[in-house]
Amino acid sequence: MMRFQILTLFPEMMQNIFSSSVTGKAMEKGIVSLEAINIRDFADNKYKHIDDYIYGGGSGMLMQPGPVFDSFEKALSNCEMTYEDYEKALSDPELKKPRVLYTTPQGRTFDQKFAMELSKEENIIILCGHYEGIDERAIELIKPEEVSIGDFVLTGGELPAAVIMDSVTRLIPGALGKDDSALYETFYDDLLEYPQYTRPEEYKGMKVPPVLLSGHHKNIAEWRLEESIKRTKEKRPDLYEKYMANHPVVEKKKK
Ligand code: ADE
Repeated sequence: MMRFQILTLFPEMMQNIFSSSVTGKAMEKGIVSLEAINIRDFADNKYKHIDDYIYGGGSGMLMQPGPVFDSFEKALSNCEMTYEDYEKALSDPELKKPRVLYTTPQGRTFDQKFAMELSKEENIIILCGHYEGIDERAIELIKPEEVSIGDFVLTGGELPAAVIMDSVTRLIPGALGKDDSALYETFYDDLLEYPQYTRPEEYKGMKVPPVLLSGHHKNIAEWRLEESIKRTKEKRPDLYEKYMANHPVVEKKKK
């Protein structure tokens, strides 16, 4: 069971996105769990304000360190850990600890390799950034890995957190409802998916490629790999270059 804990100002948004579709089914099956922790619950005032003006001036507001840190401690306690345990684990790779991410456009770009890496974790805590950001002291204490989902700016870290959870969940064995390891490897190999067809065999004069009807598994696999390579070269030359650099033998065969 993989446990996601999301530190957010919009817990109901996280629950809604995640509990529909495939990820919701994975949750029902007990493959993943999601707890959205409301940072606002850790406000120190009756108005539930957790943000304040920025020292030194500047437009907008900043999330205060206290509520952010306290919500993180709550997530740690759900992993049966104190902050002291966490600090110790940070400097000792032998000790078990949750993966702690912070969604920000400044982070390492999220990709399939990163998703594969995360799919092996037991506990993932995601801190969602907001407004102009978070007081630096909370970041310094939590020491999260900063993750971006691309070079564009969103209003908050909830959608990035949902993107990360979705892509990680589908990689957990059993989540997709079938044990097709090839499915888990799309993109992993730096290749795009080959074209696929279902019934009817002919539609508006367009026929399904005959090899797919042949029942010849080896030929089908070869055709699919060729189509994947062709498509990647056409649509994502950057990925194609990467693939070719890692598969020099295939390149020779293709010539
Ligand atoms: N927060 C705002 N924009 C973001 C992005 N592109 N990736 C991750 N977190 C974000």
